[in-house]
Amino acid sequence: MTDLVSIARSLFAPGKGLLAADESVATATKRLASYGIGAGEEMRRQFRDLFLGAEGVEQYLSGIILFSETLLEKGNDKKLFPVSLAARGIAPGIKVDLGTEPMSESPEELITQGLLDLPQRLLEYKKQGGVFTKWRAVVRIDGNQLPTALSVHENAKRLATYAKEVQSAGLVPILEPEVLFAGNHSRQRAREVISETCHTLFSVLEEHSVDRASIILKTSMALSGADSGKKDTPVEVAEDTVAALMESVPSQIAGVVFLSGGQTPDQATDNLRAITERAHAMSAPWPLTFSYARALQEEALALWKGKEENIPAARVVFLERLAKVSAALHI
Ligand code: G3H
Repeated sequence: MTDLVSIARSLFAPGKGLLAADESVATATKRLASYGIGAGEEMRRQFRDLFLGAEGVEQYLSGIILFSETLLEKGNDKKLFPVSLAARGIAPGIKVDLGTEPMSESPEELITQGLLDLPQRLLEYKKQGGVFTKWRAVVRIDGNQLPTALSVHENAKRLATYAKEVQSAGLVPILEPEVLFAGNHSRQRAREVISETCHTLFSVLEEHSVDRASIILKTSMALSGADSGKKDTPVEVAEDTVAALMESVPSQIAGVVFLSGGQTPDQATDNLRAITERAHAMSAPWPLTFSYARALQEEALALWKGKEENIPAARVVFLERLAKVSAALHI
């Protein structure tokens, strides 16, 4: 097994998963504002420290995806974040895409940026302690019109170029084609789009000769759109999610991680439990785990409110949520 494959596999240690703490400056500012927390660089550092500095997270987290700014910052313990994570056995990862912009040929769809100076940035991130990376593409559903084959293909090409460069820099790539929860589509339509997107992605990866064994797929669950008025049961979500992945994802990849995508913490936990059970029953070939941002952080942020005196209580609910999500991985 190569080093990259063993790093990728280690992220799927039993009962462990990933925290996505990689909100860009704009997203972190918006997220904090929604809890009435004003943001600047120092507040963002405290936001990161709330989660990264919580005692005992290593019991549940194999890795944490960081934003570039955080790689260079220190926690309240005065240690650089990637150094203190590595010392606790948590692999530091890094979001390397530079966000999205409207696609000129189809302006209602988004295309991910960040390939231009990627090789140089990867060298820096590696020196700063990153061992794995993430690139997020966005897939919007609108009836049968969106996504267009063109946007799915263009995003797949960029994911493939990203994966190739990351592997040659000696880092593990997480490829995230996020099928958005927003919209009024059916769960069946989400299932179809996840399947078609992954199908395109893996055939483009093949054309680019990307080594499958060290890549991780980060995917959405198959859910009825947030504005559809339909509440899916965990069993329905699990059946469609596992079916979509089994028909489109090759068995050789290192594993599959799920994003929470705007589900409540309880929904994201219950759906993960049902998916774990269904994947086991269907003998799915890859290990599965979580890679959540909102579903892990939401309850703690609501208690924290940006105040030092609330840190202990906020960390307690964060650890409780981690314990529940980790328990959802056990069959
Ligand atoms: O790119 C999205 C994040 O990595 C996952 O965030 O769990 O809030 O969807 P989320």
